[in-house]
Amino acid sequence: MNMNPSKYILTLLGVFLATVCTAELSVKNLRCEYLVNPLGLDAASPRLSWIVTADRRAEKQTAYRILVASTPELLKAGTGDLWDSGKVAAEETAQIEYAGKPLVSRERCFWKVQAWDRDGEAGDWSDAATWEMGFLAPTDWTAQWISSTGPDRAGGALTIRRAVYGAAADYQTADVTTLLTGKIVGNHLKIVANDDSLGVNPAGRLAKQLRVEYELGGQSFVKVVDENQTLELPGSEPVPYLRKAFNVSSSVRSARLYVTALGLYELHLNGHRVGDHVLAPDWTDYRKRVRYQVYDVTSWLRGGANALGALVGDGWYSGHIGNGGFEYFGKTPALLAQLEITDADGHVETIVTDDSWKWHASPIGASDFMLGEDYDARQEIKGWDERKLDDGQWQPVTIRSESSRELDAQVMEPVREVAELKPVKITEPQPGHWVYDMGQNMVGVVRLKVAAAAGTRITLRHAEMLNPDGTIYTTNLRGAPSVDHYVCRGGGTEIWQPRFTFHGFRYVEISGLTGKPKAGTVTGLVIGSDNLRTGTFACSDPRLNQLQSNIRWGQRGNYISVPTDCPQRDERLGWMGDAEVFIRTATYNADVASFFSKWLVDVDDGQTAEGSFSDVSPNTMGVNGVPAWGDAGVICPWTIYEVYGDKRILERHLPAMTRWVDYLEQHSDGLIRDRDRGNDYGDWLSIGADTPKDLIGTAFFAYSTHLLASSYRALGRTAEADKYDQLFERIKAAFDQRYLAADGRLTGNTQCDYAMALKFGLLPEAARAQAAQYLQADIEAKGGHLSTGFVGVSYLLPVLTQAGAEDTAYELLRQDTFPSWLFSVKHGATTIWERWDGWTPEKGFQDPGMNSFNHYSLGSCGEYLFGGIGGIRLASPGYQRIVISPVIHDGLDWAKASYNSIHGTIATDWKRQGDRVELTVVIPANTTATVCVPATDAAGVTESGRPASQAVGVKFLRAADGLAEFEVGSGTYKFAAESNRPARRSLLTKTGQP
Ligand code: BGC
Repeated sequence: MNMNPSKYILTLLGVFLATVCTAELSVKNLRCEYLVNPLGLDAASPRLSWIVTADRRAEKQTAYRILVASTPELLKAGTGDLWDSGKVAAEETAQIEYAGKPLVSRERCFWKVQAWDRDGEAGDWSDAATWEMGFLAPTDWTAQWISSTGPDRAGGALTIRRAVYGAAADYQTADVTTLLTGKIVGNHLKIVANDDSLGVNPAGRLAKQLRVEYELGGQSFVKVVDENQTLELPGSEPVPYLRKAFNVSSSVRSARLYVTALGLYELHLNGHRVGDHVLAPDWTDYRKRVRYQVYDVTSWLRGGANALGALVGDGWYSGHIGNGGFEYFGKTPALLAQLEITDADGHVETIVTDDSWKWHASPIGASDFMLGEDYDARQEIKGWDERKLDDGQWQPVTIRSESSRELDAQVMEPVREVAELKPVKITEPQPGHWVYDMGQNMVGVVRLKVAAAAGTRITLRHAEMLNPDGTIYTTNLRGAPSVDHYVCRGGGTEIWQPRFTFHGFRYVEISGLTGKPKAGTVTGLVIGSDNLRTGTFACSDPRLNQLQSNIRWGQRGNYISVPTDCPQRDERLGWMGDAEVFIRTATYNADVASFFSKWLVDVDDGQTAEGSFSDVSPNTMGVNGVPAWGDAGVICPWTIYEVYGDKRILERHLPAMTRWVDYLEQHSDGLIRDRDRGNDYGDWLSIGADTPKDLIGTAFFAYSTHLLASSYRALGRTAEADKYDQLFERIKAAFDQRYLAADGRLTGNTQCDYAMALKFGLLPEAARAQAAQYLQADIEAKGGHLSTGFVGVSYLLPVLTQAGAEDTAYELLRQDTFPSWLFSVKHGATTIWERWDGWTPEKGFQDPGMNSFNHYSLGSCGEYLFGGIGGIRLASPGYQRIVISPVIHDGLDWAKASYNSIHGTIATDWKRQGDRVELTVVIPANTTATVCVPATDAAGVTESGRPASQAVGVKFLRAADGLAEFEVGSGTYKFAAESNRPARRSLLTKTGQP
């Protein structure tokens, strides 16, 4: 490039000036509704967020400007034709509502942000980001629900090939093929699957199934029904292939596919699988709502002939769901899809699901969450999802007239494959039955890679544990056999994985192969709602690191579309108590804001007209919510507000939260919850410590009321806040009068009693220290053991620490004899067990009727690993203000934790050597932290080698009760305390905020 010298100097000067004038902060991580460049939003004013980063200390944003444009070109040119916020003097970087021109369906928005630093210098514009609106009006949908089945479904001769009745997972079965064949009347079979009608009981009291392989009009099918269910053939077909070939008249500029199902779908376009969602759409209460997804499919479409194909499975809609639910929402799955293709001139062609689609049986003979999946590769139709296929033999689909329900955009990360595991060991405990150890209790499926003769039938059985003889232990799966079958097509290497099922397992047994399989025959595909990881934790005790790993794996495997209780047995429901006790821990491990934003709508959908939340959401049990379970409808929105500063979630749920608290008041006597407590689970799975259930009910009534008042206050609705604050005070008074004795003991006198009463702020000032002592004394009397179940366990460690009893907190955390967190770790657990004694050396397995080895609830101590040992705590919503106060104890030499908050990364790293403590702290830009260093005064503390009170950006606040407190802005700080570590103070001096 030629440039004259003066121009060159001017340019250089410009660059120089730009460099020196540019602010010290940069804008990054642009997100809309918590997602990166989302497609298909239906909020009229989507919320925007970003973070600012800076090298220098104490940096903050003093103003911002947002530009939103309708094209990338306009955005680049600095024109926000949709919205130009102008320079807004504000620190906020999150939850900023779009306030530009009203957005319309399908609108694509391009946006960027500029921020001004603490000196008022403008920074560079951020990189551009996008979002796109979905369908804002029901009339945007022109597609129709289609299904492969209907009243006029094609018939054909019915032949029973093989019928087996019994407990398949335990090989206790009887062949009933002849019996069933004899029962066919006029090409129709109807029979109840039980001992009486089948004349045999091959499996005692174990849960049984009837599994029938049959042919209908020459096509092979499989049908499985639970004991006492009715089998009817012809009934529903196996998973169908659906397809439509179509022409696109001109070149394609862009194309979007809007799709959902009552059931599960996998979409294909011209031979490509669309998207990477697994088990889509996410589970909702289909009677009220279904979520649709949007995919950008521009690159796979072309002018001329194209083909769309879909597989549609039962999933939560019409398969087996928890606790005996079968065909709970409907009998057969259906698909709704709308492909919109825009050409170079802006003309739009639309292809929709309608009666022009065709269907054919696919190789998936059966697929079900609890039962597993059957696949016969010989039935594959090559090119089923491509344009060239001759589909003359395919059947027309049925149009399903569906009652009206909400069609909402799915604004959350979907379930995806998130990791692959290779087996660590292969054994052969029975001839021909090979057991692969995946080394980790995981959730997902196995990808099978085999080469075998056509017709070879391979069976995969899944289990969490082994029997003493090395065979797989499946009894705790109850009515979820979790068996996949694959029939080989022959002729070379075949690779297959189930699509519409998932299992919770560490061990896979493979049989049906001749000879020893290879290590590469089996790969574990781990699935989970793909919430971005936000937290890391490590410390000098490897057992606690394993505990943290177990907690994370538990969260990953049980956050499948909704927060579930367990992934392996015939349950897998959105148990609300489990969700509520674990949510705070979950927020440290992953960004769960959008996950809970979606699930809390399911929670509201399950609320009764009278105001009761349910026990599970989506509500498939139809019972009124139990104390601590129903309260999830209040605790979870509040937690999301606290962690992400999300006021909209409070606004959205306040009506339901209020109805719940009012319901509790109506179902109390004198504000004591002594009736109408539904199934009343108490402090579920506590050990020899029965906390009175009315006490738990009253305590949670108070807690929900307090959080409701706080929610109204957060939204500036003072009158309602005052009203519910007063109600809280009245419940507290009733609680104390009923349950608090003159000597300060609570009725029940359990650890759960005291932990709840302290956490929820239910005691008079004078009784708090005494309660903490009773709690501590009970733990000591039990030899340093806890006795709490799901309800009390998450409060124990924070409450003890708050009371200055950190020795006891550490003792509990590092205890490894039963009952304790490390008991299962000591015995090789790789996930959190449902019960403290799921397995013991003395007694072996607990009652198989309820014994999951992957339940996250008792892992709710994870909050303490980050907030207690790591010391990362929030002091204001969204971590705008932070407290760093690690619990440094002789039990550990070092610990480090990091957490990516909505304002950026917060990290701590401490080391202890004798009495010297070094604490490195990272605080994100635009936030302020109070850092608590164990020292008696400021003089004993240095920062980066200098006296801390003189260090740049560090302000000494006070020293009291063994902690020297400093205020810092953003940056990295290296504190060291040279003085003797004093005893920690008790923070129970004031009635604590719950
Ligand atoms: C589930 C729990 C749930 C409980 C209610 C169990 O079967 O697995 O985790 O909270 O029922 O007590």
